[in-house]
Amino acid sequence: MTKTVSTTSLLEMKRKGEKITMVTAYDYPFARLLDQSRIDTILVGDSVGVVVAGYKDTLPVTVDEMIYHGRAVVRGSERALVIVDLPFMSYQVSIADAKFQAGRIMKETGAGAVKLEGGITMQETIKALVDIGIPVCAHIGLTPQAVNQLGGFKVQREKERLMQDAQAVAEAGAFAVVIECVPAEIATEISQSLTIPTIGIGAGPGCDGQVLVMHDMLTLFDRFRPSFVKQYADLGRETRKALENYSREVKDGSFPGPEHSFS
Ligand code: KIV
Repeated sequence: MTKTVSTTSLLEMKRKGEKITMVTAYDYPFARLLDQSRIDTILVGDSVGVVVAGYKDTLPVTVDEMIYHGRAVVRGSERALVIVDLPFMSYQVSIADAKFQAGRIMKETGAGAVKLEGGITMQETIKALVDIGIPVCAHIGLTPQAVNQLGGFKVQREKERLMQDAQAVAEAGAFAVVIECVPAEIATEISQSLTIPTIGIGAGPGCDGQVLVMHDMLTLFDRFRPSFVKQYADLGRETRKALENYSREVKDGSFPGPEHSFS
């Protein structure tokens, strides 16, 4: 039987010094590929709004959209822990909202946890969710839902504030924290100061795990590429090549051949 990854297995991995892998996915086929590749955790990120829906940022994404994508990913994964993002304005207005929307996501997708953005300001919200049995992954540093407040997608360098945010979410009961776009030295110090795992994105090698957006690492999204992304494959190029071949063969009559036709 497949051993599934849980929030407690991530804590155990940190304790043993085993690095944690996280990649985003938004649909069934990619969730299956991630699971077959033994990626530990799949994040149904609100980055879906940018890399799948084509918005300029994540702000327009709705809870219903997260539920749609979350369900597809949960259906495609047997082993990985699936974490679904709470989108912008689904948890910031009140704790009651946060409980209701996080509850819907857990109930309607079957995911194992939710993620929300913010440090000290979200401490009470995280605690309230954890108290009712909803595991929360926090997200500090560059928090894309606050892009208008932060003045763009920039590296976050305020060490004291970052350390306080990390402590606050850990004390509130988050089982892990994503640290985005933070100098490697600061992220390492945060990782060493916490008992919960840190998952870095643009935060250097000292984090307890790493996360990348699937469409960035596989070059399926070409509008922009953050400098911290490593391209592990160019599926955009491969896809264009395949589509050009298909188009040429249809136009010159070589597809469909007899093997693709019924007699
Ligand atoms: O939405 C997302 O994909 C994320 C990652 C960038 C961590 O939050």
